[in-house]
Amino acid sequence: MNVTEKAREFISETSDSLHNGTFVKLSLGNYRGPDDTLKNIYIKPILIKKEPRLSLTYRHKTRDIAKNHTFEEVEQMLLQWLGNDFRVATLQTVNSDTLFEMHPSGKATLKKKAVSGREAPSLSHDKAKNRLIAPAEKGYLFDLKITDQQGNVFHNAQDKFRQINHYIDILSSLIREIGPGRQVRVADMGSGKGYLTFALYDYLRNVLQLDPQVTGIEFRNDLVTLCNEIARKAGFEGLSFREGTIDQFDAAGTNILIALHACDTATDDAIFKGIQAESDLIVVAPCCHKQIRRQIEQHKAENDVSFLTRHGIFLERQAEMVTDGIRALVLEYFGYKTKVFEFISDAHTPKNVLIVGTKGNRSEKSQAAALEKIREAKQFFGIEYHHLERLAGI
Ligand SMILES: C[S@@+](CC[C@H](N)C(=O)[O-])C[C@H]1O[C@@H](n2cnc3c(N)ncnc32)[C@H](O)[C@@H]1O
Repeated sequence: MNVTEKAREFISETSDSLHNGTFVKLSLGNYRGPDDTLKNIYIKPILIKKEPRLSLTYRHKTRDIAKNHTFEEVEQMLLQWLGNDFRVATLQTVNSDTLFEMHPSGKATLKKKAVSGREAPSLSHDKAKNRLIAPAEKGYLFDLKITDQQGNVFHNAQDKFRQINHYIDILSSLIREIGPGRQVRVADMGSGKGYLTFALYDYLRNVLQLDPQVTGIEFRNDLVTLCNEIARKAGFEGLSFREGTIDQFDAAGTNILIALHACDTATDDAIFKGIQAESDLIVVAPCCHKQIRRQIEQHKAENDVSFLTRHGIFLERQAEMVTDGIRALVLEYFGYKTKVFEFISDAHTPKNVLIVGTKGNRSEKSQAAALEKIREAKQFFGIEYHHLERLAGI
């Protein structure tokens, strides 16, 4: 009874501030609900097509998801959440902070204190404000042809810019998790035109204020020369690009290893470099999966799913899943905790799976279990060897 009363009081304060324009922000924390990965929700006001709405950022362990709702919808959600899924909620308005807290005793309290000097946020749905890499005053984004000289993102670069920010968003949570210390060393394998390499350096250096050494490895000499020139112009002293192949790169000392869309087995070469260097974090977005596809096709194993793989498109998808599933198992063999999730929902980027390995401990038991699963998978799908397994010599 006490909880519902306090929750209703809190919601009524929220509702008043939304209607009189003093609402600044609402945060929900101390999550106890059923979603293992959810940590907090942050709510802020926005305008969508001139209509006032609330934007809810669901902060998960590895990524943030934003959803927009009407005031009424959020009021209903708060009624359900307060004291149940979320034990703590803070309402910030222009002139006060109100804290709702559900205590272990089962009692709820509401505390309000006056604040001054706070302004209501401007109600525009200006995504740039939320972005970790803001386009203004970033010479490298101009040199990479993402923005014009004034920092306006070109129309044809909007998708790329969104992707860059989304990628930094995901990495920022992962980096927070590993707490890499000030001197972080990153290798970006197959860095290409360097969009993501530059953005990551900028984020580590200028947002997190770390002292990063970021190296892009790329076999195209023209891209290496271009990226080094842009890094020099931007004054990014800790960012450099090296010409060479992933398998030849000396990754010793690398604590964050990244490979985004490195072709086929180049992703395996990159993962193996991370394993060898005992990197704290290995993040790869695989590209094509030819090596395993060829073997599945060649051996035509008769199994319960052969009725699917006689269709080319399903064979393709299965090759992707089996390749990446075995990659995750090899990482687990070496003591990495793994997550596989969608990187970016973009119709133009079908290769959007991210495999993340975070260094943990290995035990004989978990190693034996990983090896057994790899063996079974190979037998079932008619695979002679997986490139990463061979590199790792397991
Ligand atoms: C599809 S692009 C991706 C670029 C960048 N990582 C991104 O996501 O924007 C792949 C890049 O990796 C490079 N690459 C592929 N295999 C490589 C290898 N074994 N060694 C070095 N570079 C490689 C290619 O030249 C290309 O520039």
